[in-house]
Amino acid sequence: MDTEQSNIPSQDTETKQDGREDAAVDAELAKDIMSRCFHPSRLGPEPWEGYIFSDLEIRIKESTDIYGAVLWPSAMVLCHFLETNQDKYNLADKNVIELGAGTGLVTIVSSLLGAKVTSTDLPDVLGNLRYNVMRNIKDRCKYIPQITELTWGQELDQRFPRATHHFDYILAADVVYAHPYLEELMDTFDHLCQEHTQILWAMRFRLDKENGFVGRFQQRFHLEELYDLPSLSIKLYRAQRKDRTTKDHRGTDV
Ligand SMILES: C[S@@+](CC[C@H](N)C(=O)[O-])C[C@H]1O[C@@H](n2cnc3c(N)ncnc32)[C@H](O)[C@@H]1O
Repeated sequence: MDTEQSNIPSQDTETKQDGREDAAVDAELAKDIMSRCFHPSRLGPEPWEGYIFSDLEIRIKESTDIYGAVLWPSAMVLCHFLETNQDKYNLADKNVIELGAGTGLVTIVSSLLGAKVTSTDLPDVLGNLRYNVMRNIKDRCKYIPQITELTWGQELDQRFPRATHHFDYILAADVVYAHPYLEELMDTFDHLCQEHTQILWAMRFRLDKENGFVGRFQQRFHLEELYDLPSLSIKLYRAQRKDRTTKDHRGTDV
């Protein structure tokens, strides 16, 4: 009896073991994701960072003056997921929109995976975004991404009417942080996400104030955690809207 009992792990031991296994999975996955980035061995006239996704080299030019001109690790997390989960999330010929595309890695990888991508961000960011996207997709993609302004919450009905704009996926990497447009961002998700749309959203956790966004998001959307990477403070979520119909700003079903 004594021997038997000593072989059964206590709940404490199991919890510790689970914790160690989770940490090992996190470390392994984070290492794999971060290993996709490399730096040129020789610096040329134009600095760039390299990434390997879909067995292809992707060169990204950053510029340090604005947020959107830097590539954030959440983008790599989302790209890694898309590349390694094509059986479940097949982007081929799918309509995809990316919010806050920044330097364009997620747009580029989605396009390499066969999606028809609408890549969006603030007007100031679009020049560098377009440059990166065009230099990397040339002769490699079935569809050329459309790069266009989308300032969260603005002119959604006019520029992206629900009757004609159906997206299979909304992609977003590191769009929730200390900026004053969190409600507008929520409205943008709400406007673009129709009954069958799936949101894939990589969230970097920084401050409690911004983290409250996740709770508010869950009031409107079903949320599933796909990756949990504490070592990077990043989670990847899949979401779908809770109500089956979408409403316009007057509350009318559309
Ligand atoms: C932290 S960066 C992430 C960029 C990119 N997704 C990545 O992970 O590398 C946040 C992005 O959101 C964009 N952004 C910030 N406020 C915005 C707004 N009000 N409307 C649209 N885009 C916005 C920024 O221009 C920037 O590209």
